[in-house]
Amino acid sequence: MNAPTGSTSAPRLRIAIDGPAGTGKSTLARTLAARIGGAYLDTGAMYRVATLRVMRAGIDPDDSAAVIAASADLPLEIGTDAGSERILLDGEDVSEEIRTARVTAGVSAVSAVPEVRANLVELQRRLASGGGAVVLEGRDIGTVVLPDAEVKIYLTASPEVRARRRTEQDVAAGRAADYDEVLAAVIERDRKDSTRAASPLRPADDAVVIDTSDLTLDEVLDRLVALAEGADASHNDAAEGNAQ
Ligand code: DC
Repeated sequence: MNAPTGSTSAPRLRIAIDGPAGTGKSTLARTLAARIGGAYLDTGAMYRVATLRVMRAGIDPDDSAAVIAASADLPLEIGTDAGSERILLDGEDVSEEIRTARVTAGVSAVSAVPEVRANLVELQRRLASGGGAVVLEGRDIGTVVLPDAEVKIYLTASPEVRARRRTEQDVAAGRAADYDEVLAAVIERDRKDSTRAASPLRPADDAVVIDTSDLTLDEVLDRLVALAEGADASHNDAAEGNAQ
């Protein structure tokens, strides 16, 4: 797997976007990356690929030792192009399959295993290490993966709003979805993700927290673009100051 290309002398702008599912995080992170001409990395997709591999091997996601063995040397390829999602497991495009309810149900257990996280965090840092702008979205980007990111954003919204958005997304994508079941799953996944010992879901101390419950995607996007542009300007000023 190759890191995004780009001059290593270009000032870096690393944008960490964290938060639970259903906050509009993926759409916003991808749109922001496209808007600022940056690379984009969906780290949740990487945990989903690890989970799919575990499930395909017939392993119980709660069997940590077997999960560690099955996800070591994960044959994963993931693109960093904001315009197209391309995720391969062993050369096979699994971008649809990793979104199924079955994988979603197993991913909290797999992503709670510290060894799985260590492998994927290393890969995420490598993919983010090119020059230029890069947007990483996940749960622990601002706290663990890139604790010195230039911009840290934490998106949140009420469980009810997130469940409604997720149900609408599933229906639009042609997947069966029941609001009450989705809400229960949202609450349960929040509980697991925020109480796990390894890298629990929480905002970094220096993150800008945005509650998206009553905001449109465009309203949130405007705030993200402003934060990115503000950081880019001060970052470039600092780089020029250093060069003098
Ligand atoms: O964003 P998502 O719903 O595709 O993420 C899937 C799961 O992966 C989620 O339940 C938590 C986990 N995850 C994580 O632990 N750390 C990340 N950086 C990203 C996702």
